[in-house]
Formats: sequence, C-alpha cells, structure tokens
Amino acid sequence: MPRVFLLAGCLLVFLWSGAGQVGAQQHLQGKRSFQEEMAALRGEKAGPDDSGDVYHGGGLSAYYTAPDKLFPGKGRYGQLFQFLPMVRWYDPDHYYNNPAFRPVSNVPGQYTGHECIVCHTVENPQVVAQWRRSRHGRPGEGKEAVGCEKCHGTDHERLLMPSYNTCGECHPQQLIGHRDGDRGSHAHAYHLDLVEDGCYVEKPAEEVSACLTCHAIAENRCDGCHTRHEFSVKEARRPTSCGVCHSGPEQYEYEMYMQSYHGMIYQGEAHEWDFSQPLANKNYKAPTCAYCHMQQGEHNVRRASPAYTFMGTSLVDRGAPRYKEIREWWVKTCQGCHSSRFARDQLEAMDEAVKLSFTKYREAMAIVVDLLNEGLLDPMPQDLAPDWRGHHTFSLLPDGHARKYNVSEIERLTYELLVDITDAIYKAKAHGAVYSPIYGYWEWAQDRWLIKIKAEASRLRRFSDIEKRLGITHEAYGFWSHGEYTDMLLGWRRK
Ligand code: HEC
Ligand code: HEC
Ligand code: HEC
Ligand code: HEC
Ligand code: HEC
Ligand code: HEC
Ligand code: HEC
Ligand code: HEC
Repeated sequence: MPRVFLLAGCLLVFLWSGAGQVGAQQHLQGKRSFQEEMAALRGEKAGPDDSGDVYHGGGLSAYYTAPDKLFPGKGRYGQLFQFLPMVRWYDPDHYYNNPAFRPVSNVPGQYTGHECIVCHTVENPQVVAQWRRSRHGRPGEGKEAVGCEKCHGTDHERLLMPSYNTCGECHPQQLIGHRDGDRGSHAHAYHLDLVEDGCYVEKPAEEVSACLTCHAIAENRCDGCHTRHEFSVKEARRPTSCGVCHSGPEQYEYEMYMQSYHGMIYQGEAHEWDFSQPLANKNYKAPTCAYCHMQQGEHNVRRASPAYTFMGTSLVDRGAPRYKEIREWWVKTCQGCHSSRFARDQLEAMDEAVKLSFTKYREAMAIVVDLLNEGLLDPMPQDLAPDWRGHHTFSLLPDGHARKYNVSEIERLTYELLVDITDAIYKAKAHGAVYSPIYGYWEWAQDRWLIKIKAEASRLRRFSDIEKRLGITHEAYGFWSHGEYTDMLLGWRRK
C-alpha cells in the first residue's frame, strides 16, 4: 500500500513541472530525493511515514502516505473533499446510521434493556455507570428507564448512533430550540454552506476532521453540553460546557468570561452554588454562559443576538435604534444584579469599542489594496497555488476565497487583524474582560499588527523601487506555489 502512494506521489509531483521543485522529481531523474539526502545525512533510511519506524530530527527522511480509508464529503461540494472515518460519530445520521458506512459488529443478535447492561458492564463499565447515574437510568417514580436500546436500537448488527432527532422524540421542546435559528446558530454550525466556505474544502481530510469536533457536535448532537451518558443539566449550566468549543482564537468567549468579574466570582465561589437549580432561579450570584444565552432553558443560543456578523468580523452597531428591543432585553438580563444605567453604559462601551476597532482594519486594508492594485504583493495571487476553485484570487476581497494558508504574509497578517483580533475585542467587551481588550488580546495586539502590516508594505515598496532602478524584474519564487504540502491543496487537484 505505502509503495503505491509513494509512486502516485512521485508521479503527481512529476506532472507538475512548475518552478522551484526539489525532491521526488529529482529522484525520478536519478538524483536523490530530499528525503534520501536527509537520510544519508542522518545515517538512517528513508521510508514511508506509516511504517512504525522513528524518523529522527523532524521526520525529514519520511515520505507522506495518505490515509487508507476516507469517506466522501457531502453537500454542494461533497465530491471535492473527503473525511476521515471519525466523521461517522459526528454526523451519525448521514454516516454511522447509513448502511454504506456502518461499522460491522462482532456481536450479532437482538437484545434489550438488561441484556445490553450485562455485556456492557464488562465491555465499557464506565458507560453503564454513567447511564445509571443519569435521569435516564434512574427515572422518577412510576416512570420507565430509558434503556440503551432507546438510543442505539435493539439490533446489534445495525446499531444506531443518536442524533438530535433521537433525543427530540422525547424532548420536543429542546429540539425546537436546538434546530431554531439561522446562520450563526447551533442549528447551522455544520451546515455545509458555512464550513465549505471556511476552508473545509481547501484542505486535506486530516486537517478538516478537527473542525467536525466543534461544528458537527454543535449541530448534530445534543451531548455537546450535557455529555453522554449522564446527560446532566448540572454540567450543562456551567461555563465549562461551552468552553470546549467557545475558546481559543476566533472564539475567545471562555477566556474573556473567565477574566471578567463574573468569571472570577464563578471560579472562586461556584463550588458553593447549587447547579441542580434552573438558571432562572435566584440561586446564582454571578451569571454563567447559559444564564445569559439560554435563559429559561431556551435552546436557541442565538435568540438574543442582534445581527449575524460572522463571529464579529462584520461591523454592526448593536446599539443602533433598530436593535432597541434586543438591547432592552439584554439590559433586563443584567438588571437582576445591576442598575439599568450601569448595564446600558457597559453595553454602549462595547458598541464604541467595536466601531473603533474596525478603523484599524480599514487603515490596513487601504494599504494592502493599493499594493495589490500596483502589483507589489510578494507573491501576487497568480504566483500562489490556485484557491480551492482552481482560480487565483486575492483572499481578502469579495471574489477571493478566505484562507489561512496559500496567501502572502501581508494578507495573512491582515486576516488575523480582523478575524482573530477585531473579533476578540467584541467578545472581550461583551463579556466584561478587563485585561484583554487593552493589553492582552487585543487593542495593543491590533496596534502591533497594524505596525507589522505597515512594515511589510514599506519593505515591499522599497524592494520594488530598488529593483526598478536596477532594472530587475523579480519573479516570485516557486516555493510559493509548490511544495510537498502545498501540492496537496484542492486547487491543484481541480486544475
Ligand atoms: C453479548 C454481549 C453484548 C450484548 C448483549 C450487547 N452488546 Fe453491545 N457490544 C458488545 C461488544 C463485545 C461490543 C464491541 C465489539 C463490537 O463492535 O461489536 C459492543 C459494542 C457496542 C456499541 C459500540 C458500537 C461501535 O461502533 O463501537 C454500542 C453502542 C452497543 N454495543 C450497544 C449495545 C446495545 C444498545 C445493546 C442492547 C440492545 C447491546 N450493545 C448489547 C457486546 C454486547
Ligand atoms: C439517551 C440516549 C442514550 C442512551 C440511553 C444510551 N446512549 Fe450510548 N450514546 C449516546 C450518544 C449520544 C452517543 C454518541 C453518539 C455519536 O458519537 O454519534 C453514544 C455512544 C455510545 C457508545 C460509543 C461512544 C464512545 O464514547 O465510545 C457506546 C459504547 C454506547 N453509547 C453504549 C451505550 C450503552 C451500553 C448504553 C446503555 C447502558 C447506552 N449507550 C445508552 C446516547 C445514548
Ligand atoms: C425514550 C425517551 C427519551 C429519549 C430518546 C431521550 N430522553 Fe432524555 N429524558 C427522558 C426522560 C423520561 C427523562 C427524565 C425526565 C423526568 O424525570 O422528568 C429525561 C431526562 C433528560 C435530561 C434531564 C437530566 C437532568 O439531569 O435533569 C436531559 C438533559 C436529557 N434527558 C437529555 C437527553 C438527550 C441528550 C437525549 C438523546 C441523546 C435524550 N435525552 C433522549 C426521556 C428520553
Ligand atoms: C460542540 C461545540 C459547541 C458547544 C459545546 C457550544 N457551542 Fe455555541 N457554537 C458552536 C459553533 C460551532 C457555533 C457557530 C455556529 C455557526 O456559526 O453557525 C456556535 C454558536 C454559538 C452562538 C452564536 C454565535 C453567533 O455568531 O451568533 C452562541 C451565542 C453560542 N454558540 C453559545 C453557546 C453557549 C452559551 C454554550 C454552552 C451552554 C455553547 N454555545 C456550547 C459550538 C458549540
Ligand atoms: C452577563 C451575560 C453574559 C455571559 C455570562 C456570557 N455572555 Fe456571551 N454575550 C453577552 C452579550 C451581552 C453579548 C453581545 C451581544 C450583542 O452582540 O449584542 C455576548 C456575545 C456572545 C457571543 C457572540 C454572539 C454573536 O451574535 O456574535 C458568543 C458566541 C457568546 N457570547 C458566548 C458566550 C460564552 C461561551 C459564554 C461563557 C464562557 C458567555 N457568552 C457568557 C452576554 C453574556
Ligand atoms: C448549548 C448547550 C446545550 C445543548 C446543545 C443542548 N442543551 Fe439541553 N440544556 C442545556 C442547559 C444549559 C440546560 C439547563 C437550562 C436551565 O437551567 O434553564 C438544559 C436543559 C435540558 C433539559 C432539562 C429541561 C428541564 O426542564 O429540566 C433537557 C431535557 C435537555 N436540555 C435536552 C436537550 C436536548 C434533547 C438537546 C438536543 C436537541 C439539548 N438539550 C441540547 C444546554 C444544552
Ligand atoms: C474549538 C472549536 C472549533 C473548531 C476546532 C473549529 N471551529 Fe469554527 N467556530 C467555532 C465557534 C464556537 C464559532 C462561533 C464563534 C462565534 O460566533 O463567535 C465558529 C465559527 C466558525 C465560522 C464562522 C461562522 C459564522 O456563522 O460566521 C466558520 C466559517 C468556521 N467556524 C469554520 C471552521 C472550520 C472550517 C474549521 C476547521 C478548519 C473550524 N471552524 C474549527 C468553533 C470551532
Ligand atoms: C446573576 C447576577 C449578575 C448578572 C445577571 C449580571 N452580573 Fe455583572 N456582576 C455581577 C456581580 C456579583 C459582579 C461583581 C460586582 C462587584 O464588583 O462588586 C458583577 C460585575 C460586573 C462588572 C464589573 C464590575 C464593575 O463595577 O464594573 C461588569 C462590567 C458587569 N458585571 C456587567 C454586566 C452586564 C453588562 C450584564 C448583563 C449583560 C451583567 N453584568 C449581568 C453579577 C451579575
């Protein structure tokens, strides 16, 4: 198997006879490949990266082997991309529960209730223990337990993995909330329009699989916040239930909350709070994520969002008169614990910080667009590998495809200034983070990125002036468009 891939790999590289290639092509021409050079240097042998051998010093003498097994993607561009088999857990209705992808069980037969428990007490003892602790395993007086077969079926050769549809049969109210809401909501998190747009299709399966854990659990399953098999509401009411997905670059809500007074009080005192109480009860001294975003058990988390803004990367003044009703709703939320004037002032401060942060993005873009128009970017879009549609576009303007790789340095910096930083300023101000909006992530960081963009622009212009004077015509280096990883991007395959 690995040999076949190796051969296919060499052949592909051979077919792309662009500039700047080293490696497998030379190997075919009788020269040593990069891997063989490195192997000789280190005194080890070159070989496939799935062999079990350890390749010391960064794996430089290893050849990439693609995954053995891939499932086709779905949606508009489904034929263009693939997933690792782990997708069946994240999109169970389309994969696990579909005969074409269902795994084969070694235990045939029909079983129910106690029979499942008997075997699984041995097979996965913790699953059974968690289920026994759940409301499903210890129903109230006169109620029937929700056994394993209610969610997984009785036929062990055709086991099912439950999506929201299964849970919704018994919890229709929560299902309605969970499936409600348009773009931006959990109901839309795995929508292929959304993820296809966001570099899903561009990249190899090994990379996009990671997107599924957040995006597909959020949409397709109910156990993102009350995890299996305890399905505890106590757990769901804590900010940690959201933090799994709502943390890190582009979605810093958890970190921002934890730095706020609310989060600090939570960290210091929550061990004394009774999380079995509904959030609407006056049991909580400081609000958690669900307290503010899932009031009265509302399962549409976007119910209170004023406008769809791509995580905060589109500009909207949330305090504008057209959003008066939503602003009043937020003020009411705060009012349980604060004066309405205090709440209004705080939310207005968020509006103003958001508007200001976009001035820095515009200042950066004005510089970058000039460079583009004058052909001064290094590399220019046509010098890069094609985008996933097979075109050469500038990633930051409407006909371009947003991406994190296969861009020039200045494009990437400008992307970060918007998507990582402007977005974080909004999230910080919305959540009362005190340190972050100034020093940490990100007003100072935004200043820094604007300087970096200017420094890069200045460098590009000075180089170009020098070259003009010397009569040099610079052609972009081949490594911008080709390389072991770069050649795997979908744009090349589409060409
Ligand atoms: C005779 C013993 C036995 C009984 C009875 C039994 N299981 Fe299993 N189950 C197993 C074993 C062994 C495995 C792991 C091997 C496999 O994949 O088949 C397994 C695997 C599973 C899995 C994981 C499937 C996967 O793809 O990894 C689920 C879910 C499951 N069983 C649910 C049930 C349910 C629901 C019942 C009752 C309807 C049940 N089991 C009854 C022995 C049993
Ligand atoms: C209320 C619904 C529900 C019940 C009842 C239930 N499960 Fe599950 N189970 C789930 C969900 C949800 C998943 C995750 C599905 C996915 O990954 O797509 C799951 C996954 C599993 C898995 C594989 C996941 C892993 O982490 O390895 C096993 C094994 C399993 N269940 C066994 C059981 C057994 C045994 C019982 C009975 C004691 C049981 N389940 C009862 C909802 C349920
Ligand atoms: C066959 C019906 C049925 C199915 C299917 C079902 N549930 Fe339940 N669920 C119940 C019942 C009954 C209760 C207990 C309600 C009560 O006693 O008031 C319950 C309680 C709950 C609770 C409240 C737990 C608590 O700590 O108070 C949660 C959360 C929950 N279920 C989530 C889920 C999820 C998630 C799924 C799908 C993976 C699911 N349920 C599937 C019937 C079901
Ligand atoms: C399994 C991952 C996951 C968990 C757990 C999760 N979310 Fe989300 N959430 C997402 C994803 C992904 C999106 C973006 C969906 C989209 O853009 O369509 C999102 C969107 C949102 C939005 C709307 C964002 C917008 O742009 O308008 C809010 C509000 C939200 N989540 C709140 C919460 C809260 C509160 C919790 C915990 C109680 C939570 N989420 C738990 C993944 C998750
Ligand atoms: C004190 C109430 C409160 C708490 C606690 C809170 N939020 Fe928020 N959240 C807000 C407000 C207010 C906004 C801004 C709403 C707006 O745009 O008008 C917001 C915005 C968001 C957004 C962006 C929504 C959008 O439409 O773009 C997400 C996602 C989010 N919060 C998730 C979380 C998560 C996750 C937690 C916990 C770690 C959390 N929030 C804790 C009040 C809260
Ligand atoms: C974004 C996180 C999140 C997701 C996803 C989620 N829940 Fe919940 N769920 C919660 C929170 C938080 C509560 C507690 C609300 C409260 O205290 O008012 C809750 C409460 C519940 C309850 C208990 C209601 C009661 O009145 O006791 C059930 C049942 C439930 N959820 C089922 C589901 C089902 C079914 C799904 C999928 C369709 C789902 N949940 C998805 C966070 C979530
Ligand atoms: C750690 C969990 C996590 C991972 C991993 C993750 N995302 Fe997200 N993503 C989120 C959350 C949460 C949001 C919503 C944040 C908000 O609205 O403020 C989001 C928002 C988005 C958005 C904007 C959604 C909108 O409606 O505007 C796109 C597009 C997106 N993600 C694509 C991806 C892709 C593609 C990957 C993999 C390369 C990925 N995400 C990986 C959690 C994640
Ligand atoms: C469940 C109660 C509760 C809710 C709801 C709540 N807060 Fe708070 N908040 C607190 C507590 C308690 C403190 C700490 C007060 C102190 O500093 O003594 C606090 C502190 C703050 C602080 C920092 C302290 C200061 O004096 O500047 C800000 C800002 C803040 N809250 C904003 C909000 C906003 C905005 C909302 C609504 C979106 C809100 N809070 C909702 C309980 C709450």
